[in-house]
Amino acid sequence: MTLGGVRLTSLVEGAEGRATPLYVYDLDGIVAAARDLSEGFGAAPHLIAYAVKANSAGPIVRALAEAGCGADVVSGPELELCLRAGVPADRIVYSGVGKTLADLDAALGAGDRGILAVQVESVEEIPRVEARAAALGRVGRVSVRLNPGIDVDTHAHVATGHDEAKFGVPLVDLPRAWEALGQSPHLRLVGLTTHIGSQLMSTDEYLAAADELMKVARAHETKGAPLEFLDFGGGFGIDYGGSSPLPPSAFARAATLRLAEGGFAGRTLVMEPGRALVGPYGVLVAGVIMHKHARAGGVERDWLVIDAGMNDLVRPALYQALHRIEPLSSPPPAAEEATCRYRVVGPVCESSDDFGEHPLPRAAPKWVGIRDAGAYGFTMASEYNGRRLATEVFLRGGQVVATLDASRWPSWVERRLGSGSPPLGA
Ligand code: LLP
Repeated sequence: MTLGGVRLTSLVEGAEGRATPLYVYDLDGIVAAARDLSEGFGAAPHLIAYAVKANSAGPIVRALAEAGCGADVVSGPELELCLRAGVPADRIVYSGVGKTLADLDAALGAGDRGILAVQVESVEEIPRVEARAAALGRVGRVSVRLNPGIDVDTHAHVATGHDEAKFGVPLVDLPRAWEALGQSPHLRLVGLTTHIGSQLMSTDEYLAAADELMKVARAHETKGAPLEFLDFGGGFGIDYGGSSPLPPSAFARAATLRLAEGGFAGRTLVMEPGRALVGPYGVLVAGVIMHKHARAGGVERDWLVIDAGMNDLVRPALYQALHRIEPLSSPPPAAEEATCRYRVVGPVCESSDDFGEHPLPRAAPKWVGIRDAGAYGFTMASEYNGRRLATEVFLRGGQVVATLDASRWPSWVERRLGSGSPPLGA
């Protein structure tokens, strides 16, 4: 298996038992994905606010910032990370239903006039932002996240724009939000935002949400000042092996067109992709601990026990996600007799620590690569069962250009920035 022009075996050979599990990322692929997406907007003004929760590694955030991306953050530490990684404050939006007062201070106090927008997710949040803006002597730049009441065909855990979801302000509650905003000299409404869910496979619901948002924007602008931006959110699906999703640029193209049709040509369009920019460009490399053969209930079973577990990549356990798993050293076997349908599992003491069934060479490989692990992999990892966080390796131009070893830094921010990081194996 190769990634970013590098044979992945070259990263683990000679470092058995120490180097794996190992996340490997292709920075060139990530930057190219951002450029492709950007081209989808044509000449229209836009901001790609990368959803940092998908992968907050410093080398990735820096590379995307250099490529012109902003960021969508969901916590004070993510905000600090982005600012220190070179994302300008005026390119950062901050989403989330539970921002603390300290988080709000950091957002409102950043740069010359705070971040691009604090995206309020409830009417109740408005006085909280107002109080902190007043205390800091600043005008709080806010956008309102709408919950358009649109269900999408995705895993229930990642659908966010329907009536039962905790996210955003439902359309019926908007008059209360306008009233709260209208009364405050310390707040300025600069945008509207929405995000209906993740791993979207068509633009239909995305555009339906955009239509709702534009309806609200039109109604608002007949009375109030023009908005600086409209933010349609992220959620662009990727191919985990069984589907052929639209390229992210198709969302940008369709949204730009719809924005113009809606009467907002020339208005800055913000999008918040996470998964699509990083997911396909990360592989989780795991060492094979052993092949376990068992016969229970009259059924023969072949388990491949690997040294990566649900603590490293929780998506299969949490969302029943199936990530392709392939041997590192050879292409996936073609001949039926040479293969075995292994049930690939990790060492964690949970039945859900299970990566599913995969055809692999009967002679168990030494290492396997779990594909499409660049998004919501490391960022959702834990130290459950006393397991250390995986090392991360970053490739650019066919070379290892950075590594992050979580155990070396005292705080999450230092750890994610990876200042002074040593090369692999040092
Ligand atoms: N904007 C907001 C407000 C979000 O909540 C999210 C993701 C995004 C943007 C980026 O969505 P994306 O483009 O990555 O789909 N852990 C789950 C995904 C959770 C998504 C949470 N919000 C997974 O592994 O599938």
